[in-house]
Amino acid sequence: MNLFDVYPLQDVTIVRAEGSSVWDDKGCEYLDLYGGHAVISIGHTNPHWVKRIEEQLHKISFYSNSIKIPIQNELAKKLGKVSGKEDYQLFLCNSGAEANENALKLASFYNSRKKVIAFKKSFHGRTSLAVAATDNPNIVAPVNETNNILFLPLNDDFALKGAFNNHLISSVIIEGIQGVGGINEATPEFLRTIRTLCDEHNAVFIADSVQCGYGRTGQFYAHDIAGVNADIYTMAKGMGNGFPVAAISIAPKFTAKHFMLGTTFGGNHLACSAALAVLEVMEEQQLMQNAKSIGAYLISELKNIPGIIAVRGRGLMIGIELPEDKKEVKKNLLTRHSIFTGEAKPNVIRLLPALNIGKTEADKFLSALKAEMLKD
Ligand SMILES: Cc1ncc(COP(=O)(O)O)c(C=O)c1O
Repeated sequence: MNLFDVYPLQDVTIVRAEGSSVWDDKGCEYLDLYGGHAVISIGHTNPHWVKRIEEQLHKISFYSNSIKIPIQNELAKKLGKVSGKEDYQLFLCNSGAEANENALKLASFYNSRKKVIAFKKSFHGRTSLAVAATDNPNIVAPVNETNNILFLPLNDDFALKGAFNNHLISSVIIEGIQGVGGINEATPEFLRTIRTLCDEHNAVFIADSVQCGYGRTGQFYAHDIAGVNADIYTMAKGMGNGFPVAAISIAPKFTAKHFMLGTTFGGNHLACSAALAVLEVMEEQQLMQNAKSIGAYLISELKNIPGIIAVRGRGLMIGIELPEDKKEVKKNLLTRHSIFTGEAKPNVIRLLPALNIGKTEADKFLSALKAEMLKD
């Protein structure tokens, strides 16, 4: 059997990883500023994370959601505290798409409506409704097509108000900072307008925090910058530091009913121990503060590098837009400087490193990028 060839691959085989370093099968060390797509939050193979998963593995790794699983309550308590939403409720699942799918569904159960507002350049995942709310027709199969989604320009109050006036809206789903779309920030004012309109129209504000959340911007949710609460936060990537786990954090106004949502694997013992280890390390090592300060340092230094069109983002979610004639830079960072970065189309380098990277790693990247930008 061959693999179903859906991923364009870089010619590298990573066999070992520690912190923000990864090594290939020839022993070459790389600096990982991509974090396996924003997944590695506390650093590869973090010792506390390994220990917690290992200890759990020897006790019990899985049982279905038909019994009491106290480690789920422990995780809910910790997540409530670290995210500053102690009165919210937790539903555990397995991936970002599944989190968004459940959030959109819960909103629709709540107000018995169908229309969803999403934004241009959004990415919300590949399951049925999540992909329908994703602004990329290439990945929407005919069976996913629906006229329940309205795509509006980001940060456009006028368009948003118009949509609320003309349709009965169930929910608004928005990334605090668009990741796949090229690191585009929702403004605090726009997030506050969403809050106001959702309140006025009994619609649900869904904060997709799958990529931009979990402390990456220096605040737990990127949307926190607006100083208002969303009704549902969705999260995944950084939550398990590589162990597949995702969740939605649900405001108190939603009442659960048995069988309303569900999953076989979501919230299993191993996933919860990985997620708890991440929050413990984040707290203990003050990783949100680190993300904020190293991110601010990187952004201010990047703005001084000649030839860059724009630097966008906050904390450790940074987009560097390059001119057309510098489109080889991302590849060169990997092949000449052994640095992994991410990308967004058309020509944006995306930095999504672990939240504990230090200044030395930031400086290594900055000098490599400067060297590449100065080359003819
Ligand atoms: C903002 C956002 N939402 C949802 C998803 C989907 O997450 P997953 O790939 O875990 O289903 C992604 C993945 O890149 C994402 O960036």
